[in-house]
Amino acid sequence: MIKQKSIDSVMAAVRIEDVVGDFVSLRKQGQDFVGICPFHDDKNPSLHVSPRLGIYKCFVCDAAGNPVKFLMEHEKMSYPEAIEYLAKKYGIPLEYERNESDEERQQRSLRESLLIVNEFALKFFMDQLRNTEEGKLMGMTYLKERGFKDATIDKFQLGYSPDSWDSFTKAALEKGYKEEYLIELGLTGKAQSGKLYDIYRGRVIFPIHNDAGKVIGFGGRVLKKDGKDPRKYVNSRENTIYHKSDTLYGIYFAKNAIHKQQNVYLVEGYTDVISMHESGVENVVASSGTSLTQGQIRMITKRTQNITVLYDGDMAGIKASMRGIDMLLEQGLKIRVCLLPDGEDPDSFAKKHRDSELQEYLANESKDFLLFKADILSKDAGNDPIKRASMVNEILKSISCVKDNIERAFYIKECAKMFDLSENDLNLNLRRFVWEKTKEQSRISQQQQQQQIRQQSGIPGEVTVEQSGTPDLIETKKHPETAPQTDLLYEAEKELVLLVLNYGNYVIYEAGQEEGERSEGMRVDQYVCNEMMKEDIRFHYPLLEKIFTMYADWASYIGNQDQIIRNFTLSDDPQVSEFVIRNIPVEPRFSERWKKKYDIHTHTTRNNLRVLQNQVQNILLTLKLRILENDAAIINKVLENKELPEEDVGLALQQLNKVNQLKRIISQRLNRVVSH
Ligand code: UTP
Ligand code: MN
Repeated sequence: MIKQKSIDSVMAAVRIEDVVGDFVSLRKQGQDFVGICPFHDDKNPSLHVSPRLGIYKCFVCDAAGNPVKFLMEHEKMSYPEAIEYLAKKYGIPLEYERNESDEERQQRSLRESLLIVNEFALKFFMDQLRNTEEGKLMGMTYLKERGFKDATIDKFQLGYSPDSWDSFTKAALEKGYKEEYLIELGLTGKAQSGKLYDIYRGRVIFPIHNDAGKVIGFGGRVLKKDGKDPRKYVNSRENTIYHKSDTLYGIYFAKNAIHKQQNVYLVEGYTDVISMHESGVENVVASSGTSLTQGQIRMITKRTQNITVLYDGDMAGIKASMRGIDMLLEQGLKIRVCLLPDGEDPDSFAKKHRDSELQEYLANESKDFLLFKADILSKDAGNDPIKRASMVNEILKSISCVKDNIERAFYIKECAKMFDLSENDLNLNLRRFVWEKTKEQSRISQQQQQQQIRQQSGIPGEVTVEQSGTPDLIETKKHPETAPQTDLLYEAEKELVLLVLNYGNYVIYEAGQEEGERSEGMRVDQYVCNEMMKEDIRFHYPLLEKIFTMYADWASYIGNQDQIIRNFTLSDDPQVSEFVIRNIPVEPRFSERWKKKYDIHTHTTRNNLRVLQNQVQNILLTLKLRILENDAAIINKVLENKELPEEDVGLALQQLNKVNQLKRIISQRLNRVVSH
């Protein structure tokens, strides 16, 4: 753990234009910089970098964030890696927290030690391949025969382990690396006699990188067919740093291309990944297994929702892997498949064809997975009615995994055409599968709903914010069935928060402008706070409340509004920084000129002042209205409960009356403000 103090000094030094500028060429435009956005394909400078707010924002693809986010997204660094990178860039020494538990520290130092040993092994194997006679003669010749170019061999850090009993192990022990680590990593084996030997001896080495580019394991391929070892490949076994199920070979070299192309090709192994890179297709990873694990899926969905599975022509293999794909559909992934000609794998196909031919093949031959599956099964079933019936069910089961209604309808339409059945019949059967799937889910959400109503039945008495039990932001998004006023309430609270973030420091009521109290001059943020206190307005959404409170805190001692925004964009609560970065305009809404002059009462500035005053009133009144609507909805829900005791019904109706009365008053005032 890096100490917060160190993180703060890094954040204070960092300049967004330097960080983005290291990867994107930026051009000055007014106060800001613009450049070509690296997160989507573009020729226009859609990326805006604002030194004033310390953020970048793309106006096309929605990418936005602070310097740390940029490094995390663009370079796929983890948070601490990004901080370390920035510290190095600005020459700031970092201090680390020492409050881990002993066990954690041990684990961490074990991980670190193992990574260091792997780093040594990597260097050793790379050196052997390039600088020793045996390496050049055996390893390099083999790789060249396979058609790998020097640049590729270097990029993937390929290596060679000499064909001797223990030359690697000896070298490692000499350097002081512990025997137990060598064994844990599966680099060294121990014979019964106690003799240590090299596991990878006489093999070319394919290092396996994690998403940050650290070497976590190795694959080694035999050169000689006659060898005593029958295994073509030796792969790292599971250990503290290598988990096969959380590893995708090639992810480190593919991540940027995946993000940019918004698609990833899934292949079988090392050689497929490498050959496709050589042919100019870089968004490719290998799962080294039949179906993807949850961990591997997460590594992909973090970057794209689109997977194209490359199949060699072997039908049995294709059918076996189809079952695993339903799981991907359930995750909302869009799956395509591309069938290679008989007897070819991606490696051999890439080698036999020009780059453009491979790329065209991939583009033209990729098909939607479900339609592909339907096609294959349909051909298989032929005219046998029983086989056809079970085929239809098999396809419908897959379609039921698709979450999106519109997509499902599309598949039903296509399958109806393909199988010559009516859409109605298919839909009827589909409903059965969908029902099976949702039964469990609806059971759970029903329980939750009942609990909510139970909690709310205690309401009558005083309608207060706490009792409303409005779900937080995330919940609301997940459940579109939530009453619409809940979303309107969120919008209203959001408007209020954005109002103070954007205009908090503007003085809307001049000193002595109105009789009595406002002799000091009133800022927007002060005015809003006063009103909220006076009217007992409270936030329903915890995130918005948090941002508002943070603002109020900072505004009490930071005079510069931009500095307050910068603090938000650097917040260590990702939800907070994300919200502010998303919603703050990069360019100020009012011109600097007006800001400087706002207290000189020219005709236009007076107008602007009116606009702002009106806006403040409007936002506050709207929020009050939304809160009342929300209260009314809750009371109505309580009244739906047929078992509510009569006296509670009476109380609830009384409350409802009061709320409705207030609603009318607020609506009238709001109309006046709007029509003003
Ligand atoms: P191949 O059998 O095609 O390997 O498997 P290859 O090295 O390309 O051999 P040849 O030259 O075609 O005969 C393709 C991928 O499957 C994985 C490897 O990642 C390999 O690159 N694989 C294959 C293993 O992990 N273990 C094996 O035993 C075989
Ligand atoms: Mn092969």
